[in-house]
Amino acid sequence: VNIAVLDYVAENIHAGMSTEDIDRLVAEKTKELGGIAAPLNYEGFPKSVCTSINDAVCHGIPNEEEILQDGDIINVDVSTIYKGYFSDSSRMFCIGDVDDVSKKLVEDTLKAVQLGLSEVRPFNRLGNVGAVINEFAQSQGYKVVRDIGGHGVGLEFHEDPFVSYVTRRDTGMLLVPGMVFTIEPMINLGTDEIFIDSDNDWTVYTEDGAPSAQWEVTVAVTEDGYEILAY
Ligand code: MF3
Ligand code: CO
Repeated sequence: VNIAVLDYVAENIHAGMSTEDIDRLVAEKTKELGGIAAPLNYEGFPKSVCTSINDAVCHGIPNEEEILQDGDIINVDVSTIYKGYFSDSSRMFCIGDVDDVSKKLVEDTLKAVQLGLSEVRPFNRLGNVGAVINEFAQSQGYKVVRDIGGHGVGLEFHEDPFVSYVTRRDTGMLLVPGMVFTIEPMINLGTDEIFIDSDNDWTVYTEDGAPSAQWEVTVAVTEDGYEILAY
């Protein structure tokens, strides 16, 4: 359901629509497929999806006034409850003609997730996931957000472990078959300093106003590697 909802957003997202329109797409499709949008009313979050544009790092709140512009990069973060289980994934969308630097940030952030996935296997340590992501991001001149990270996911939206993307190699929890967690690094073109919007207490922005990108997958550790459950 989570994947189908994001596919539906991908088919319909365009310049000139509002982030509220994206919220409607997500609410409609989730309901049609028999799921529940997990963000709605989660700790007071008022909408069915998070939409975070340009310097918004995460947890943007869809609204009628915010219109997608040519050149924007946007993260759409979808989380679904289905038969009591949670899933969580997000994608970036480039709206119209995006500048090369932002486009590269978006592509590199996806690469970072793929590198992180390559460390997911039984009896590897969780810290290696964050280490390869941070090393790659640094090599491209980016900064990885430190204060927010991924999480276990299953019977609750956010479970243990906390999945940091600035960890050192061979540290952290042992990965074992059956564990399910997200990989969702937020990678910034400028500083890794962030702040939370004081008006809504949710939306996280980069301190310097430079763009930030994020992709998120839900991954399960299997007997011999991993399986992506949502992307
Ligand atoms: N989907 C976000 C995550 O990746 C969590 C959003 S919480 C919400 O963990 F309330 F803002 F939806
Ligand atoms: Co998540």
